[in-house]
Parts: sequence; C-alpha cells; structure tokens
Amino acid sequence: MFLEIRRRAFLKGSLATAVGYLSGCTTTLESGRPGARVGFTPVPRAASDGRTVLIADEYEYQVFIPWGQPLRSGAPAWSWPPSAQAQAQQVGIGHDGMTYFPLSVDGRHGLLAINHEFGSNRHVFGAARPAAPEQVLASQHAHGASVIEILETEGRWRVVPESRYSRRIHLNTEVEMSGPVAGHALVSNRARNPVMGTLNNCSSGQTPWGTYLSCEENFNLYFGCKDPFEPSAKQERYELTSGDSEYGWHHFDPRFDLASRDYANESNRFGWVVEIDPYDPAAKPVKRTALGRFKHEGATAIEGRDGRIVIYMGDDQAFEFIYKFVSRGDWQQMRSAGISPLDEGILFVARFDAGGHGEWLPLTIDDPTLAGAFDDQADVLVHARLAASLVGATPMDRPEWMTVAPDGDVYCTLTNNSRREEPDAANPRAPNPHGQIIRWRDQDAHLGTRFIWDHFLLCDEVYETEDSLGSPDGLWADPDGRLFICTDGKQFEGKPNQLLVADTATGGLSRLLVGVSDCEITGLTTTPDRRTLFVNVQHPGRGNPRLTSFPAPDDGTTVPRDCTLVVRRKDGGIVGS
Ligand code: FEO
Ligand code: CA
Ligand code: CA
Repeated sequence: MFLEIRRRAFLKGSLATAVGYLSGCTTTLESGRPGARVGFTPVPRAASDGRTVLIADEYEYQVFIPWGQPLRSGAPAWSWPPSAQAQAQQVGIGHDGMTYFPLSVDGRHGLLAINHEFGSNRHVFGAARPAAPEQVLASQHAHGASVIEILETEGRWRVVPESRYSRRIHLNTEVEMSGPVAGHALVSNRARNPVMGTLNNCSSGQTPWGTYLSCEENFNLYFGCKDPFEPSAKQERYELTSGDSEYGWHHFDPRFDLASRDYANESNRFGWVVEIDPYDPAAKPVKRTALGRFKHEGATAIEGRDGRIVIYMGDDQAFEFIYKFVSRGDWQQMRSAGISPLDEGILFVARFDAGGHGEWLPLTIDDPTLAGAFDDQADVLVHARLAASLVGATPMDRPEWMTVAPDGDVYCTLTNNSRREEPDAANPRAPNPHGQIIRWRDQDAHLGTRFIWDHFLLCDEVYETEDSLGSPDGLWADPDGRLFICTDGKQFEGKPNQLLVADTATGGLSRLLVGVSDCEITGLTTTPDRRTLFVNVQHPGRGNPRLTSFPAPDDGTTVPRDCTLVVRRKDGGIVGS
C-alpha cells in the first residue's frame, strides 16, 4: 500500500509541471479514466514451481495451436525434429504478437494471425549448428507468421481443417516492398533475387482496414559471414558485424552471407513492418518502408483527427528510440484512391524532456541536418536509427509494446537496460534491471508534435512485493481501463514470467497467470466480445525437457512446445474482470 501511494504521489508530482503544456488540453493524464474492475483472485507471487502454467481461480485455459500442429487436413502430423517440408505446413515456433480477426458476427469463428519470432537451432533440429541445408530450411520455415482459421464449438477452440484462409508465411515466401524504399538501390542485389520472407517477427498490430502488421525485430542475428567482411558504420549500428551468426544460415544460404557480393543488400530487406491481409490468402505480404527500418517491436495503429492513421512503434534495443508514423491523409480516402495509408506520410521520433513534456521530431530529407548525412528519403528510412540520433531523439531503455487506452493515453513498456550508466527523466534508473511503463498523451488527437508524459509504473518500486513484476514487455489496454502486462525477463526469486492486469485508474496490479520455467509470456488478443483471451507461452523451458514438458506431450515426444493459451473466465465474463 505504501508503495502504491508513493507511486501515485510521483505521478501527480511529475504531472503538475505538464498541465497547460498542450494547447487546448485541459486534462492531466490522471483524470478522465473510467473506473476499471479487476475482481479476480490473484495467483500468489511465490506459488509457481515452474513446471506448469498457473491461472487465477476464477479462470481456465486450453492449450492451443502448439508449434508443429498441422495447419490443415493433409499436412504432416507433428514429429520431432520436423522436416523442412513438414514445417512449412505446420504452425511455426516462437509464438509472439497476434491478432484475432473475426469471420462470424458472434466472434466464435475467426482467423488468428500470429508471429513466429524465433526458435533456437537446438529446439528446432537438436544441434547448435546446422550440418545440412535441410536443417537451415527447417529453421527458416519455422520462422515467420501464420494465419490460422479457428472455431469455437461447445467451449473448445479448434483449427478448421479445410480452410481457404490458413497459410504459412516464412523466409521463402515471396513478399513485396512498398513505399519510398521499394526498388531502391539500397535493397537491390546483384543476384537480382526477388524479395523473399520475413524474419524474427516479434510484436504486431492491426489496421482499421482489417490487416495485420507483423514486425521484424532481431534480423541481424541471422546474418553472418564466412570470409572477412568490413561492416560499414551504418551496418554496425544495426549490429551486422563480421563473424559467425547464432543460426549459421549463411553456411548454406548465400542470402544471409554478409560478405557475399551477390547479396550485398539482402540485410536491408529486413527490419520492416510487414502488412499481411488475413482475409485474402493470395495477397502477398508487403513491407511498408515508410515506417522505417529498425528492430521493430510492434506497430500500434490508431485513427487520429481527420482520419489520418497513426502508428506507434518501438525499437527494442538499449538506447534506441520510440517512433510514430502519421499518414499523409485520411486513410479511407487514400485507400479509395488506391494508395496505402502506410506508404505516404511522415515518420517521427520521440524526444522526452524533463518536466513531463516532449516532442516528436520528423525524419525527413528536408531537414538540413539529415540532408547533409543521407542521399535521399530512402537512405533516411533504411538507416532510421542513425537519422533519429542526428535529430536528437531520446535513447530509451529498450522500447517494447505500446497500446492506446480509451482516453487516448499511449502506454509503452521499457523492458530494462543493464547498460545504462546515466539516468534521465524518462529513463530514471541506472542501471535499470527491472524496467518501467511510460505513458504519454499527444497534442491534437495523436497528430501533434508535442506531448505530455509520465511513468505509469517503475517496476523496482514493486519488485520485492506481492505485486512483483520485472521486465514488462507485452501490453494491451482494454476498453474499460484495464492494462494487461506480460513479462519477459528476470522475475523476483527466479519465478517464471507472468501476465498481470493493472487498473489504470488506481495503479493496482493483479496476477492473472504464471508461465513455466524459461518461457516468455507474450501476445495478447481477444475475441470481439472479450470473453476469450489468447496469450502465448513462448519457448517453454527454452526447449529443454528437463525444465518442463509443458504443454503435456500427447505426441510421444518430450520436447516442450511454444503454444497459445485460450483463457476464459469460468463464468463467461469479460477477461481481466
Ligand atoms: Fe521480440 Fe523485444 O522482444
Ligand atoms: Ca518483446
Ligand atoms: Ca522482451
């Protein structure tokens, strides 16, 4: 309780100086929230032994779409290790960001678009290094995303076996690039190979026009080189460096060999937001380059004043930035004219100033500072990190997920930063092992260049209490003022990662679910009626069956498998209540 009071006192203190900063904004971040209800019995902090998932007494869960489940009838059944050919027809590994797209009015029939961020070589094929091209191909087919047609009957969710929608998108799926970088020399190779695949798809988003945004994060981990290679300063900023790679794909696939002259610009084709139309299985995924290239965590879309679309995005690395994209015009008018609202607009980066205010700085070649350092707008977008540094953006403590609450406040998890030595107003812990949740409100209904901000939660203030959490990551604000928070990192006394629900009106925290040893809890989406929540258990036990066999094997193997949990209140109520 004492900590709670301190936290709220802190929020009020920082807001006092922000009041009146936004012209026409008469509220502070503390006011105007509906009273939210978080009424379930929290799982005790110390209850988990790491072997299986725990959930609040009022709730139940169903294990769903584990890694390797056949996408449709006729696809190969799960066996370990999966062949490359089988894996391309099965649910991928590394379940992460996802969105439920309804097909029926009652919301019990729909499409789950889901990211497959990563799976280690040991998890996918049982060795640290690939020894044959088949293993690289299996790994590539385990990555990417899936669209899966699903249906609820008699309280159980299942995959629709004869679906015209279900599909896998992986490293060898043909995709398109669109926007200012499409066709540019920076993304062209001497090999003239088509643009293929998506990689390390982390968090996600959805557009008002019913498409899925899948975000490429740590793409650099898949590029290596056999021969000596001198990275440019721009490549170094994206951690594309000489030497071997964690995955070793470059030993069998020259696209991922940084020293290959034929594929010299392949790495510039990754690090983008990829738009996928779940309702059109023939539509190619499109890399929307106007949104910039960095280690994208997520892409949170909201309609601003005048119908312009605004996308909030984080770059998840220590000392990288928070961005927003604003479309040139009304998204419906642009689409009617055959133009994607994600292809034309301005990319901004955030500067958080002391005193609880901040500014969005445009990244355009019209800026003399950028004109002196980059050839054209495509160069700015491909190297957005360097452009953001030049205009004076605030280096943050690893920006992860963002979500927009019903009152317009934007919340963002800053997961941790062990390397921070100098605190600043927005990143006040040095070092920062446990992270924080920052929030802001933009002037002019998400369109303005000024904002006010404060911290919703500094995790070290609760870390050693019953409300403990550390390294917040997945985040979703529901329409009633609840904030769902997933963790990915060190928890107090070595407990597993977890899902908590916060009441944004009081700051109170309640633990809904606890995962298993060495997993991440991530991915949050619900059916339209919010009676069903889908949330992911990523890399349970890091693939090590000695730590956990979750989910309980029914397949003759003991390899723990990434999966989705279907979470419901036993009384059929709104999830989170
Ligand atoms: Fe994919 Fe930032 O975690
Ligand atoms: Ca994350
Ligand atoms: Ca994380």
